[in-house]
Amino acid sequence: MSEPVASVALQETAAAMVAGHRGLLAMDESISTCNKRFASVGIAQTEDMRRAYRELLITTPALAECINGVILVDETLRQMSTDGTPLAQIARNAGMLVGIKVDTGAKALAGHPGEHVTEGLDGLRERLQDYFRLGARFAKWRGVIAPAPAGRWPERPSSACIEANAHALARYAALCQEAGLVPIIEPEVLMDGDHTLARCAEVTEQVLHSVFEQLVCQGVMLEAVILKPNMVVAGLGCADQNTAEEVAAATVLCLLRTVPGAVPGIAFLSGGQTAVDASCRLNAMHTMFGPSSTAVPSNRRHPLPWPLSFSFARALQHPALDIWAGQHAHRAEAQSALLHRARCNRAALQGLWSLEIEAR
Ligand code: 13P
Repeated sequence: MSEPVASVALQETAAAMVAGHRGLLAMDESISTCNKRFASVGIAQTEDMRRAYRELLITTPALAECINGVILVDETLRQMSTDGTPLAQIARNAGMLVGIKVDTGAKALAGHPGEHVTEGLDGLRERLQDYFRLGARFAKWRGVIAPAPAGRWPERPSSACIEANAHALARYAALCQEAGLVPIIEPEVLMDGDHTLARCAEVTEQVLHSVFEQLVCQGVMLEAVILKPNMVVAGLGCADQNTAEEVAAATVLCLLRTVPGAVPGIAFLSGGQTAVDASCRLNAMHTMFGPSSTAVPSNRRHPLPWPLSFSFARALQHPALDIWAGQHAHRAEAQSALLHRARCNRAALQGLWSLEIEAR
């Protein structure tokens, strides 16, 4: 029996998002988050500055060598470049798929102080149809989970928080597929806090189990989603930080335990890691578990069932944002900085990243 044309198209899009040792550029900060990042480097917080910045990113020469798709926010999807071309069209002309962030943000979860549930399901069917017409072929929704060390009271995350976010992610994913968009499913276990790597592993595993249970429950086609998880790392405030190899081993083990092989790709968020740490850890996953790895004895080596890629925002953009600082004269240098980060991450996907490549 042949598959419906729509599901074949979704699967092709999903495969194209993680193909060729390339990744995704997340440039979908909400207006308020983008303004905060602009304020931190002294850039005026106006719609035109946000447009200029996003135009700078999208028009970076050769970006498509390393980037399969860009994740935009509603404002950017409707903006034009200085010469009047829609920014989304520029991305497509360069060979990059266009994606759109569709959640409306994490809101306080009633009865659970300090925890959040992501909103945006009301009216989503109609918004997705509109985004498809505007050329988007994939979407993104982020749920946030804040862990606390084991044994601290009240227990964080609560099962209420995990289940509410997993349910919303699955409802969103089903609506995306109905509209012809591949859903990126982003359940982020935050790095804020003093929890250990082991605690992050435990919580991430719990969260991913719940997410895949809900995806199955809502009838989501697993062959046409991309998972965007956190790497398994200790909290930023934990005294005991880990090597790139420890992070890589814990992350891959967690994913092997939770993510079905039918999923066509996994693209990590950077979550507040430094740009270099994110590349180094991604590289370690590929040197340790990639096809030419010698780190795992051959009789115990699992070929990974999915490509491991990146969908970074801060770890790709930050050096470029600092250099640009809102100055037209710094544009070319900022674009080189973005391309450099994209190339470092592309090298990491092949296990070829090194401090020498980083210093080029
Ligand atoms: P970071 O890579 O900065 O964590 O952002 C990824 C993202 O898309 C957040 O939703």
